Amino acid sequence: MIGLGLVGMGYTGWQHLRVVQTLPALEVRAVVETDPARLQGLPPGIAVKPTWQDLLDDPRIEAVSICLPHDLHLEVVTGALAAGRHVLVEKPLALDLPAAERLTAAAAAAPTVTMVEMTHRFYPPVVKARQWVNAGHLGQLVAVSERIVQPVADGELPDWMMQRHRSGGGVTMTNGVHMLDRMAWVSGQPLRLHAAVLGRGQHWGDIEDTASLLLTLADGTPASLLAAWPRGRGATDDELTLYGTAGILRVWAWRGWAFEPTGGTPQVHDEYPADADHAARARVGMAGALAEFAAAIAEGRPARPGFAEILAVQRLIDQVYRQSSDPLPAA
Ligand SMILES: NC(=O)c1ccc[n+]([C@@H]2O[C@H](COP(=O)([O-])OP(=O)(O)OC[C@H]3O[C@@H](n4cnc5c(N)ncnc54)[C@H](O)[C@@H]3O)[C@@H](O)[C@H]2O)c1
Repeated sequence: MIGLGLVGMGYTGWQHLRVVQTLPALEVRAVVETDPARLQGLPPGIAVKPTWQDLLDDPRIEAVSICLPHDLHLEVVTGALAAGRHVLVEKPLALDLPAAERLTAAAAAAPTVTMVEMTHRFYPPVVKARQWVNAGHLGQLVAVSERIVQPVADGELPDWMMQRHRSGGGVTMTNGVHMLDRMAWVSGQPLRLHAAVLGRGQHWGDIEDTASLLLTLADGTPASLLAAWPRGRGATDDELTLYGTAGILRVWAWRGWAFEPTGGTPQVHDEYPADADHAARARVGMAGALAEFAAAIAEGRPARPGFAEILAVQRLIDQVYRQSSDPLPAA
């Protein structure tokens, strides 16, 4: 049983707590949270520490999961590594590229396990897509398209996410990081950015609410990405589409997948219980990530994805903000 400390008990910290309660290898022993209202309902037996430094002073805490606003990742991950702890940090690795580079160097020098919590790599439909591409079931890839359009109601997302100095950016930083990573991971190829158009028409704070990116895979295959946070309510429109010479694979992270073989009968498959709500479906991915973190600690091996893998995604995001037709102010 690995003793875990959770830093930040907002939406994601609570999701991690619920997931860990289902995993035999991990036990949440303490949490830190600056807003007392977010500690209501904490199960008995879990210590509440005043600060993350106090949490790291507790020898029962062997590993930490950091679920904080992006501007705090650098300081807290650095502190946890210096204190000799295994570290899982929520995506993105850091607020900006220099901070991500510093954390990657610190992780490379640390003897402990370090991992970025990239939930999408553990969603069953995304895992399936990677296996199918690897096995050659799609034939030769012709094009890849990525889309997550997530309607956002006022007050639904935390204020800090809409403030560039705290989040590092908008929908590209928060959702695009998953999308760029899953495109590269599923196709097995790094991405190259050619053009970025960002929109701010929804007036969420000082961040971009829409991103349209033109990319290629390393072998030259064209790829595109559309991410948006329109104001409103409703279901998220999410699809990673892989067009191959043998057929089209449509991947819906929180639903399932469909394969349309060239000239054959389409297959559609749901990967979740029909009664699971969105948060429950998200926990399936988080459970995969936390299980990988625990297994890597138990087996004394690197966890995946490590910081260096996600640094590549942060490099792309840095290019997006630099090359955009409407560059944002510096974070
Ligand atoms: N993997 C996913 O699917 C997913 C989904 C949502 C968010 N996230 C990521 O999780 C992280 C947190 O996002 P969130 O949506 O949970 O935000 P949130 O605002 O709901 O939670 C952050 C919490 O940290 C607390 N906090 C702030 N400063 C603190 C400090 N110094 N010490 C202790 N607690 C402090 C806040 O009070 C808040 O409760 C971000 O990195 C975000 O991108 C990941």
